[in-house]
Amino acid sequence: MVKICCIGAGYVGGPTMAVIALKCPSIEVAVVDISVSRIRAWNSEKLPIYEPGLDDVVKKCRGKNLFFSNEVEKNVAQADIVFVSVNTPTKTSGLGAGKAADLTYWESAARMIADVSKSSKIVVEKSTVPVKTAEAIEKILTHNNKGIEFQILSNPEFLAEGTAIADLFDPDRVLIGGREETQGGLKAIKTLKDVYAHWVPQERIICTNLWSAELSKLAANAFLAQRISSVNSISALCEATGANVTQVSYSVGKDSRIGPKFLSASVGFGGSCFQKDILNLVYICECNGLPEVANYWKQVIKINDYQKKRFVNRLVSSMFNTVSGKKIAILGFSFKKDTGDTRETPAIDVCKGLLSDRAHLIIYDPQVAEAQMMMDLSLPKFDWDSQPGSPMQIPTDESVSQSVKVVHNAYEATKDAHAICILTEWDEFKNLDYKKIYDNMPKPAYVFDGRNVVDVGKLRQIGFIVYAIGKPLDPWLKDMPAVA
Ligand code: UDX
Ligand code: ADP
Repeated sequence: MVKICCIGAGYVGGPTMAVIALKCPSIEVAVVDISVSRIRAWNSEKLPIYEPGLDDVVKKCRGKNLFFSNEVEKNVAQADIVFVSVNTPTKTSGLGAGKAADLTYWESAARMIADVSKSSKIVVEKSTVPVKTAEAIEKILTHNNKGIEFQILSNPEFLAEGTAIADLFDPDRVLIGGREETQGGLKAIKTLKDVYAHWVPQERIICTNLWSAELSKLAANAFLAQRISSVNSISALCEATGANVTQVSYSVGKDSRIGPKFLSASVGFGGSCFQKDILNLVYICECNGLPEVANYWKQVIKINDYQKKRFVNRLVSSMFNTVSGKKIAILGFSFKKDTGDTRETPAIDVCKGLLSDRAHLIIYDPQVAEAQMMMDLSLPKFDWDSQPGSPMQIPTDESVSQSVKVVHNAYEATKDAHAICILTEWDEFKNLDYKKIYDNMPKPAYVFDGRNVVDVGKLRQIGFIVYAIGKPLDPWLKDMPAVA
């Protein structure tokens, strides 16, 4: 029986390994993590991450050929294939701060693999890492002096949160990068290919050299993020000129060369990958003497930051240039619907922007825990990924705890609020009883829709002043000062 061990039981490691276990009953899969609470949760009824369909998959395999454990070294030692899916934060200090990936966790995992291994292994890069990380890891592993052979593969993950299980069941492609120039490399590629071939059609399994696989992941995420920044830049122009961004992106997306997906204007993209991967790409370009290319990709992030700032400015300027002491209901905090993940969610920057203007925030999200929101609003930028195992031990900033209240439904959040901000496109926000909400708010009552989920016409009929990203402006807002 082939044994797989995955180091890191996070958003990538957990779902990916659960699906491998489900689709390959002949393979034993152990998912290990240094975090005791995470592993306890994976072994409990309430899994540590919310992902539609995940519970079912885990229930079917857990205890049969899928195991979650804190015994990292023991499971690594016994495995034939070791996936590494640990966090790769953006460096917050030193060389490359704010851009380069911090490979501390990766390096310590690699050293541990080298220390505990007694037999040859295939080591698979699963976390997104800068190009040529595999080469560095290879150096650590092959200098172990034990005569053990390690083959390094890059097998980037393309799943999107909220649809992770569907993406894993039916991936557009699986990418495997390895040392194609050596017999050992080719054999390792085939071994991993055979795992995926249990359920993925052969033609969708792409094999490349190591660096191409690593770079493809960064490039794919940069292209996706670029589409969002492109449409978001157009949304600003739509607001200034009276066009409707939904109509524009529909028309643009009808061109089969462009396609309709990933063209929804929003308050900005979030998630653990896009910003981090583009920053990595920028850093790599700079290190390789390509400042023009670096600047090109930097602009994708700049537009994303601009979009969040623009949203806050629009809100404040619409409310007579001050939100000081006003109650603002925040609907949605996760970075997209159907996940409880808040990493790099635009809600953090929007909320921080409103707090700096001394607003009172009442936040509701169907999946995000209060402690998580408080921690996110208290942490400096980029620090979210540097706390493996102990994310909840960050003390809440006192000014945050005084100005932020977390509640359990949208009606509670909006009661007596001066304005409503929709920051995540949760389905339930489409069908709220907005008449009832309006009646419970002081007037003028505002809705700022950062995800284009509400029926603008209907809400204006009720009496709301409505701002929706990239849509023709409410007559009320037209008279307000211009937004930077
Ligand atoms: C992304 C990639 O899609 C995935 O392939 C990769 O493996 C990891 O990064 P993820 O971050 O989970 O996945 O979510 P995704 O669906 O890509 O959304 C990212 C952000 O973009 C979200 O904040 C989402 O709301 C936003 N978005 C997406 C838009 O604002 N508009 C769109 O049209 C699409
Ligand atoms: P991703 O979204 O890439 O899956 P996460 O942050 O959700 O990232 O998961 C990474 C996991 O890796 C965390 O649960 C963390 O505790 C774990 N981890 C980090 N370093 C190690 C290590 N050396 N050994 C085992 N687990 C680790």
